[in-house]
Amino acid sequence: MLKQGSNAEVCLGLIRQSLKKINIEDDGTFFDERNPHAFVILGASGDLAHKKIYPTIWWLYRDSLLPKNIIFYGYARSKTTIADIKQKCDKYMKVKENEEGAYAEFWKLNHYMAGSYDSRTDFEKLNQELCKYENGLIANRLFYLALPPSVYEVVTVNIRHACMSSKGWTRIIVEKPFGKDFDSSQKLSDHLSSLFTEHQLYRIDHYLGKEMVQNLMTLRFGNRIFNPTWNRDNIASVLISFKEPFGTEGRGGYFDQFGIIRDIMQNHLLQILTLVAMEKPASCQPDDIRNEKVKVLRCIKPLKMEDIVLGQYVGNPSGEGMAKLGYLDDKTVPKDSITPTFALGVLNINNERWDGVPFILKCGKALNERKAEVRVQFKDVSGDIFEGKPKRNELVIRVQPGEALYVKLMVKTPGMAFDMEETELDLTYDKRYANVKLPDAYERLILDVFCGSQMHFVRSDELCEAWRIFTPILHHIEETKVKPLPYVYGSRGPIQADELLYSNNFRYTGTYQWTPDNNSNKSHL
Ligand code: BG6
Repeated sequence: MLKQGSNAEVCLGLIRQSLKKINIEDDGTFFDERNPHAFVILGASGDLAHKKIYPTIWWLYRDSLLPKNIIFYGYARSKTTIADIKQKCDKYMKVKENEEGAYAEFWKLNHYMAGSYDSRTDFEKLNQELCKYENGLIANRLFYLALPPSVYEVVTVNIRHACMSSKGWTRIIVEKPFGKDFDSSQKLSDHLSSLFTEHQLYRIDHYLGKEMVQNLMTLRFGNRIFNPTWNRDNIASVLISFKEPFGTEGRGGYFDQFGIIRDIMQNHLLQILTLVAMEKPASCQPDDIRNEKVKVLRCIKPLKMEDIVLGQYVGNPSGEGMAKLGYLDDKTVPKDSITPTFALGVLNINNERWDGVPFILKCGKALNERKAEVRVQFKDVSGDIFEGKPKRNELVIRVQPGEALYVKLMVKTPGMAFDMEETELDLTYDKRYANVKLPDAYERLILDVFCGSQMHFVRSDELCEAWRIFTPILHHIEETKVKPLPYVYGSRGPIQADELLYSNNFRYTGTYQWTPDNNSNKSHL
């Protein structure tokens, strides 16, 4: 977590210290300030680069968190210029008035080269450009694949044969989708491992860079109070949800080929599940943690049709502000598409801690609100003496928006009466940590790559297990053309999802609702 206004040395010092504490040796995996560094964005003219990657490297640069001796190289097919890229990025960069000077300096460090993805000669030219800057010194290179998956293979071959750093490290950041199913993911993994070592590969799942997702380890293993109850004896169900209040809105081309299970459930939500459910790792070393995550995944059987509800949003002519179009009204989506935009799936972890506790993953677009959270719902009190009044305790880890941690619990109604009511113990981050600026997930993760820490990146065996769980159902849905249930844009999703939730021991009473300022009524699920 970066304190506002803190200087780079302090931050880097803290990162170094924490890496040392977890025994990651600072032996050159970390960066030496004096060495030249090149950050190469492949796919620099694309949406991801403009919206996420350029803003992230600018923020890291602005906060002096990057090595001093660095250049940024954009590479893509388009014959564009840095000025043009800058113009497309400007609205995402959040430049404050007093930062104009630094912002101009940042763009001076940026270069662009147009080239094809399958031309070795073009990559050799890129290498020559990088070499000119590096001037024969020990130099590190980081390649960000912000590319359509169709060119991953050819681009990585070209990096391997034409662009590896000769005297420093080379690291490759790979964006999802990592394949479309078990076989295609395996093929990509085999391809990448024939070119690079696992230590050079950083598979990014940006949910692993979010504050409250990273907090799960500390909460669970840095506190005495949670662990004794963190099991099937006490927990009724766990709901991990992701909701977005907008649809594809003219950007359905990519989404339609993947659908919500591949876009959100198989990666972001499953990664959160592993951190909620894993056993305590032997240490905080990245591989100890990832070993535990893999073990949890190995205890999960492939998802079955009876354990899932699929939905697709339809238009809402009376939508707030203006009429909201349905998924099939999006011109970039085929008229007969059966791609789900909503899914609720239930997984069982067949181990001693969790057997019989439903882990419910829920995700959807064009829903009633933006929210991502983990809701650990405890069982009913046994031997109740309060005539059925106690409601279930819940521990809620609110990932976004408005990071918070709260425990729903019963108290005596304050005052004369001896009655009871629901309330919560509330740790809302922007109140408790009002002066702390939480970095964006990509900022954390890209800095981790510079530092050589793979703790928050997905290892190839995790990926393999994730696809094992979801591939059979994905194939079944596609082969038998399962039609998703319609739900209205801006609603809570198909009603059948609530029924599946209920039958999996999740209770929603609606009698008490937490809100960040606790004075308005907002939907709870
Ligand atoms: C991406 C998905 O991985 O995550 C998008 O491809 C989704 O469909 C996005 O909108 C959500 O990320 P965040 O950080 O805004 O919750």
